[in-house]
Amino acid sequence: MRAVNSEPASRQAGIWRRKASSMASETGGTPTAGERSAERRARRRTRARWVRLAPHGRRRRPYGAVTAPHYDEAYARLREPSGDAGLYLALARERGGPVLELGCGTGRVLLPIARAGIACTGLDLSPHMLDALRAKGPPASLHLVQGRMQDFDLGAERFALVTAPFRAFQHLYTVEDQLACLARVRRHLAPGGAFAFDVFKPRLERMALAEEPEQEDACWREGEDEIVRSAAVVRDHATQTMRVTMHYDRHRAGQRIARETADFRMRWFHRYELEHLLARAGFTQLTLYGDFDRSEYAADSPEMIYIAR
Ligand SMILES: C[S@@+](CC[C@H](N)C(=O)[O-])C[C@H]1O[C@@H](n2cnc3c(N)ncnc32)[C@H](O)[C@@H]1O
Repeated sequence: MRAVNSEPASRQAGIWRRKASSMASETGGTPTAGERSAERRARRRTRARWVRLAPHGRRRRPYGAVTAPHYDEAYARLREPSGDAGLYLALARERGGPVLELGCGTGRVLLPIARAGIACTGLDLSPHMLDALRAKGPPASLHLVQGRMQDFDLGAERFALVTAPFRAFQHLYTVEDQLACLARVRRHLAPGGAFAFDVFKPRLERMALAEEPEQEDACWREGEDEIVRSAAVVRDHATQTMRVTMHYDRHRAGQRIARETADFRMRWFHRYELEHLLARAGFTQLTLYGDFDRSEYAADSPEMIYIAR
């Protein structure tokens, strides 16, 4: 893995650090079996030599102090137009609650449900995201819990609807964690309850790329400043995971005066992989939509939205 940051090396110091020099020599011609296995070993060594470090040498937590304050502005532009919050609100109204959202973040989806008078619990790993939600003055019927979706335990509480909107499930990188989460979901569902969640549909031509260079994807005003967000992607096809590195650049009077960096990993899923996973976890009835208007899943659908029972 390597840095995709277009900043000068001096700025990147402390963010990506290479442990030592590496790497397989180029031999040309058809490699022998011995050369191929030496190359594989060298590639593994090289991957291990790149470690992700925070500016002070600590690993940065995703959805932390950088992302949380910018989250709502960014996703009002990048996600709200999808209509996802409207579908989750409609599902909550149909099922009547209580609702549990896994990875509730700043409450972009959950707050409208709570404000519609439906009892809700929001679970999230990130204290920064939960603090941003609390700062919005949620109704008393919204219960917030800091925890991991793969091992939470809400005691005797049972929910008519458990949700994981906006790809929260894609933050589970291993089959072990995914199955652990699905078992937790099933354990917390009331009889007849459903698990509704969405993941992005992998567009094959895009997923084939090992890297997508940094690109601006949103900007907004904050007082006299303009915040410009850009994102770069590096994919690891062996683990079906991608690392998204985001920059939030603050501009004032036409000059960039500050840059903040945040990143997270995401696992991508293919349709039948997910369906096997859900079946393995004990879900027997699946509905798959291709968009938040509940349209049927098709080759050109932008989303994979599951309602699993
Ligand atoms: C893309 S945000 C979605 C937030 C919210 N659902 C929305 O639609 O705006 C993903 C959220 O999942 C949370 N998250 C990531 N991994 C998690 C885990 N293992 N357990 C609980 N929450 C997690 C993050 O902290 C973040 O708030």
